[in-house]
Amino acid sequence: MSVCSTTGLSRTQQERWPYLYKHLIEDIDVPDLSSITEAYISSLDGDLKKVIKKIGDAKAKSRESLTNHLTSLMFRRFGKNAMIEAFGSSVTNLSIGTGDLDLCLSFKNKTPRKVLRKISGLLHEEGMENIQLIPKARIPIVKFKDPRSGLDVDISLDNRLAIYNSHLLKSYAQEDRLRRLVHMVKYWASRRGINNAFDGSLSSYAWTLLTIQHAQLVQPALAPNRQENCPSKPLSFQGKTFDVGFNDDDFKTENTQSLASLLISFFDRYATRWDWESMVVSIRNGKAHSTKSKKWNHTGPLPLEVVTGVDDGRMEHVMPIEDPFDHEHDLSRVVRAEGAMSIQDEFMRVITMLSEGKSWHDICEPVFEIDEEPDDLFHDLRSTSKDEIATRLENLRANLVEVEGQIRDLVGERQNSKELLDLLRGGLRETRNVKSDRQQILSELRPLSMKVQELREVRDGINQRIAIPTKRIHEEMVRIFEKLTSEVDVFNAPNLGVEKGDFAYFFELQAMYEASLKSNEAHQEFIRLRREQNEEYRALKKTKKQEEDVLTKLVESNPALEGVHLNPKSVKEFQKNAKLLQRSINEQYSSKHELRREIGRLEAWQRISSKRNQNRGQRSSNRDSTRRRPRAPDVNINEVRQKASSGDALSLTELDALLSKGGIASIGNVSNEKSQQKQRQSKKRSSHKIDIRQGRRRGRKETRK
Ligand code: CTP
Ligand code: MG
Repeated sequence: MSVCSTTGLSRTQQERWPYLYKHLIEDIDVPDLSSITEAYISSLDGDLKKVIKKIGDAKAKSRESLTNHLTSLMFRRFGKNAMIEAFGSSVTNLSIGTGDLDLCLSFKNKTPRKVLRKISGLLHEEGMENIQLIPKARIPIVKFKDPRSGLDVDISLDNRLAIYNSHLLKSYAQEDRLRRLVHMVKYWASRRGINNAFDGSLSSYAWTLLTIQHAQLVQPALAPNRQENCPSKPLSFQGKTFDVGFNDDDFKTENTQSLASLLISFFDRYATRWDWESMVVSIRNGKAHSTKSKKWNHTGPLPLEVVTGVDDGRMEHVMPIEDPFDHEHDLSRVVRAEGAMSIQDEFMRVITMLSEGKSWHDICEPVFEIDEEPDDLFHDLRSTSKDEIATRLENLRANLVEVEGQIRDLVGERQNSKELLDLLRGGLRETRNVKSDRQQILSELRPLSMKVQELREVRDGINQRIAIPTKRIHEEMVRIFEKLTSEVDVFNAPNLGVEKGDFAYFFELQAMYEASLKSNEAHQEFIRLRREQNEEYRALKKTKKQEEDVLTKLVESNPALEGVHLNPKSVKEFQKNAKLLQRSINEQYSSKHELRREIGRLEAWQRISSKRNQNRGQRSSNRDSTRRRPRAPDVNINEVRQKASSGDALSLTELDALLSKGGIASIGNVSNEKSQQKQRQSKKRSSHKIDIRQGRRRGRKETRK
């Protein structure tokens, strides 16, 4: 692998960022866009018009019906406490048709516990795909795809600032040329793969802010500063207060530049003139802020240092863009080194191509396979025989019946498992007191047993040494004492040896007596403690019995609990099982939705082809009576597309309309081939990552006003 000695970029990296690489090694001047001819600007304008005509928001209807559907779903699950509100491009008028659907879910009262998980469960049941939870983000999000409309959806929790900033963007979008300019910048960024914050690039929102700032800075201004001289509107959110006030008045611009020249100056500004090191994009200021005054100086390594492995530190403020309401939020926070490299490369590429007079079509050549909508919902069925379609349908229907059966079984099993879990939890709750009593008894029993053992050892130790009972020792002591203390018979006086022996015996008896008393004492205490110990054992047995009674009751209410231990470990096992079952249910639901969609499509094709045959027959018999083409059916094509994409049955008129209109804008994954295509595309998209700092070498800079 050949690594460039100047930049440290590998061959693959040189190929990935060719414009930036060339610029870095050759130290060339950036192309000068001031010499672009009027003829080129006008041809570019023509290109832009064509694209604008094409992009539209073909999915507006799908977005609306999906929003309604999700709203009623949330109502059903969380009651009237829940509120769903759309934000982002579906309300700002800045959609180019390819964007996601951004929804905000909030609650009038308390937010339900584990709400993201509950939503995820609901979405699974609805057959949504690629469901991802991002619970730890500043704003928790659930992301998923609606297979029917093909829309990517983000439901964020209580994303209030986004609702307000969407209103602000909508207000800016009133100006027609600014709206078109945003459309074109978003179109370029999305086709060049640099508009995905999750991939370490800038979000569409950030590109929109860059465009608005440009519109504020062109002379004469195309957009005002809507946050200047307006009444303040404080909003408390997440412990902070934000001023979300702005001026929504009409703005009459004196700017007469064409869309193409505005777009050229946009690229010229950010690719060559904007000093990212010292300037912060700030639409609430109407012009750049200085990084110094915001304390947003770039820290950490340069993107080039990260991608070449020189430094793996964290970059901060790599392309500073201030959020209009949350002034501490830099939208480039998400930009990773590769993303920053790609953005810089794209800027270099676009200004080079503009200077070479390339078309907008070439400039926006997609970096990954574009998932063009099929012109024809039935494209793969046209060359398939009637019999083959009937066989396929039969198989699909049989599969559907099987999958539905499996879902029923799994749901039943999960229900049972949940019931057992509830019973077990109830049982555990019931025996909680018994358990703590037992714990108490056990903690008392331990020292008691040790004491009993100790006493036993003392007693037995003495008894081993002194085999004579205490009473006998005492009698003997009395006898010897009397002997030693009785009056001396002078005629029969004991000799000294006998006397000494008696005294020694007496003292020995005395010691034995004391030891024997001690042994007796130990024995008495031993007996007392043994009694206590027995009582504790009885109490322990009682708690065991109570626990057994609870378990017996549980088993009586549900024999499946036979043999299950009443402890937290069993609860965990049941929980794990319920989760596994839920996963299988979700998978089966997805299969069910896929099958129903495909069955709907095949049935629709069968109906339409038999209608066509009928028509053909009729036409030949009426050939002479009429030569007029049948009129295009009078139906709402968007509604028909929506129906077709959801697999609902279509009327013949609707199907005719569908075919006569050609393209079907809102069809989800209709075939494996398409889903494979999508996988390829998303792989490519994620491998195409993101810079910006290297641009500093490029000479001409715009200074802050
Ligand atoms: N948003 C935000 N902060 C961000 C990113 C997004 O507040 N860091 C909010 C903004 O209200 C923005 C909305 O989320 O309007 C949607 O963001 P995004 O999807 O990036 O922009 P769209 O204009 O919806 O672009 P697209 O059409 O590509 O979906
Ligand atoms: Mg969006």
